[in-house]
Amino acid sequence: MSPTTPETATESSSRLRCINCGSIRERADQDFRCPTCGDLFEVFYPGWQTARSCQAAGRRAEDLKQLWRDRKTSQAPADLSGVWRFRELLPTLKSEPITLREGNTPLYDLPRCAQAAGMQSLQAKHQGMNPTASFKDTGMTTAASFARQEGFRWVACASTGNTSASMAAYAARGGMRSLVLIPEGKISWGKLSQSLDYGAVTCQLRADFDGCVRVLNELVKRRPIYLLNSVNPYRLEGQKTAAIELLEQLNWQPPEHIIVPGGNLGNSSALGKALVEMKELGLISRLPKLSVIQAEGANPFVRSIREDGGAKLTPMQADTLATAIRIGNPASWKKAQKVLKATGGEVEEVSEIEIALAKAEIGADGVGCEPASAVTLAGLKKLVKRGFVRSNESVVLILTGHVLKDPEFTLKFHRGDLFTGTLDEKHAAMLGAQQRAPLVLDATVDAVSGVLDKFDREVPGE
Ligand code: F0G
Repeated sequence: MSPTTPETATESSSRLRCINCGSIRERADQDFRCPTCGDLFEVFYPGWQTARSCQAAGRRAEDLKQLWRDRKTSQAPADLSGVWRFRELLPTLKSEPITLREGNTPLYDLPRCAQAAGMQSLQAKHQGMNPTASFKDTGMTTAASFARQEGFRWVACASTGNTSASMAAYAARGGMRSLVLIPEGKISWGKLSQSLDYGAVTCQLRADFDGCVRVLNELVKRRPIYLLNSVNPYRLEGQKTAAIELLEQLNWQPPEHIIVPGGNLGNSSALGKALVEMKELGLISRLPKLSVIQAEGANPFVRSIREDGGAKLTPMQADTLATAIRIGNPASWKKAQKVLKATGGEVEEVSEIEIALAKAEIGADGVGCEPASAVTLAGLKKLVKRGFVRSNESVVLILTGHVLKDPEFTLKFHRGDLFTGTLDEKHAAMLGAQQRAPLVLDATVDAVSGVLDKFDREVPGE
């Protein structure tokens, strides 16, 4: 166990605070909405108020960094988790966590993508390298653990596919039943197959994601089911740790920019919360700008920020091939708006073609990701063009899902079937340069050798 008690490090006993009316509660009702005003809760840590004002905060921060580093050599389950290793900044769990060794994700250099975006260098933290291949695992380990601690038999979520895959896995590991509500025909087969394999009761509703959320919100009021959508603030606490781990990987030197995809806006809210808390606790000296990128066809947050600085959000009918972020009524938009304001970040929207191109470019750097994650590179290109990001600044993209999450998209792209008949010449040529369709050949050495000759002629010396 940690040699540092909460009093000597940071007091992690937490409360829930409504982000709108500020009312404070020990625990939430099953819909995780404030009973006074209906808005969302966030976790806050009253003990940190004193820690912040304490002159020794710098020292305390160094102690925490050392403690987290030391845990890297421990074999205790909580220390092997890239989430629970940072438990001083999480709500206190009184039981064993449900863990699959989530977190611990790599930070990669993307030299070709840097060039494509007009940057001197570029890095990506690949949250798709989590146990169920998306960033959702970092939040699921915390929220599922609290669900089990509270004695719930059933957990549930509405999802575009990744939350459900993650929830199903953690429920199975924790001995709980899970209910998945997904939009029929609008999630990738890879994600759907995961929730089946992990044993979830999987319902494909004739609705979009927002419709699934509506049904679930009513259901949890009627039955003893623990809600695992990102309105559950314990999920966001776990997702926070991706930012903490990132800063540790950067030796606590903040990058100038962090860029994330925006769907339901839980992840941007969580990462931003972590940045603000790390600054307040003296773990970092300044805040990176956190920018949120959406698909043009699912851009309610971009519109809200551009129209009135995020004062209100008008829900929309969303559509994009990046099905993970096909969301028209994001639950956490107010939290994300605060994060943007606190960090000085921006919003940007990107087209389907820009997403497809960026995804292939990330693949060509030997990394790969699912379509929703590729909005980050596509958005960065636009932020560079606008002058918001300068070519010599340090930028970290958050890649949220693994390349194998949506192989259908990838195959269609490389075969030239993704935008059949809708591309103009310029875009067709742009995408064509990235397409690498499989070649069908006779099973002879000459046939394969001939292909190599052809490629050598096209790109001599490579
Ligand atoms: N990237 C991927 C791969 C996602 O699966 C999601 C959201 C996002 C980005 C957006 O993150 O919602 O926190 O803004 N997927 C959810 C799901 C909605 O159900 O799997 P967000």
